[in-house]
Amino acid sequence: MAEFSLPKNSKISGKGTTHKAPEGATNVKSFKVYRYDPDSGDNPRYDTFEIDLDSCGPMVLDALLKIKNEYDPTLTFRRSCREGICGSCSMNMNGKNGLACTTAIDECGTKEVRITPLPHMDVIKDLVPDFTHFYAQYNSIKPWLQTVSPPPSGKERLQSPADREKLDGLYECILCACCSTSCPSYWWNSDKFLGPAILLQAYRWLADSRDEYTGERLDELEDPFRLYRCHTIMNCANVCPKGLSPAKAIAETKKMMVERQL
Ligand code: SF4
Ligand code: SF4
Ligand code: FES
Repeated sequence: MAEFSLPKNSKISGKGTTHKAPEGATNVKSFKVYRYDPDSGDNPRYDTFEIDLDSCGPMVLDALLKIKNEYDPTLTFRRSCREGICGSCSMNMNGKNGLACTTAIDECGTKEVRITPLPHMDVIKDLVPDFTHFYAQYNSIKPWLQTVSPPPSGKERLQSPADREKLDGLYECILCACCSTSCPSYWWNSDKFLGPAILLQAYRWLADSRDEYTGERLDELEDPFRLYRCHTIMNCANVCPKGLSPAKAIAETKKMMVERQL
């Protein structure tokens, strides 16, 4: 598994602290956690927390909550649903992006678990990346149904089961950004390249039989950077915690670009 690089503001030179496991604990695992507090003026550091797995839930999020509750209440991370729905607990665990709530501690190897924020994002604090640019890119693709004609029934726009099926593998995206922040093209060109998550969302509307702005949506993507910086490296499909393939959505979008020239 490829090791991803660290967040943007990640010159790790601060001296970390090791928090020992309780006396007598026999099933201990170390969690090396990225810490950064911009208000302190200190450089980022790793703190190590030795956790007694016999008194901890099975998931990485359980370990983080235990650390926050029992070792250091200042540890900062996002989470809400704890079942892979909200997408807020995305982070990098032992070199792989994923959701802390659906990643088992056992999956993270036998030695220590190293936890860092999503790669190549600015960090607000500890494990919390700044999603401002990501959300602005999401907004730029107009992620809502666009139409000119009134609904045929006068009420709602119906869709055949076959057309609805075309949205499978797209609508499930929870915008966790695991894919975009594992994509080398996005690391280097995120100012211009939309990245796999946003391109999958863009295709979700291109594929929707009810949307009437397909041409305009394609026009918006017709650009050397926004779409075409994808070089089919496939990291995105390998890390998606929902099993989606942004690379496939990107390929379908490129196909639509070609077909409309014919
Ligand atoms: S397939 Fe494209 S979008 Fe996905 S990781 Fe590779 S370059 Fe990035
Ligand atoms: S495609 Fe998968 S990895 Fe990417 S944002 Fe959506 S759910 Fe997350
Ligand atoms: S807490 Fe919601 S996806 Fe992990």
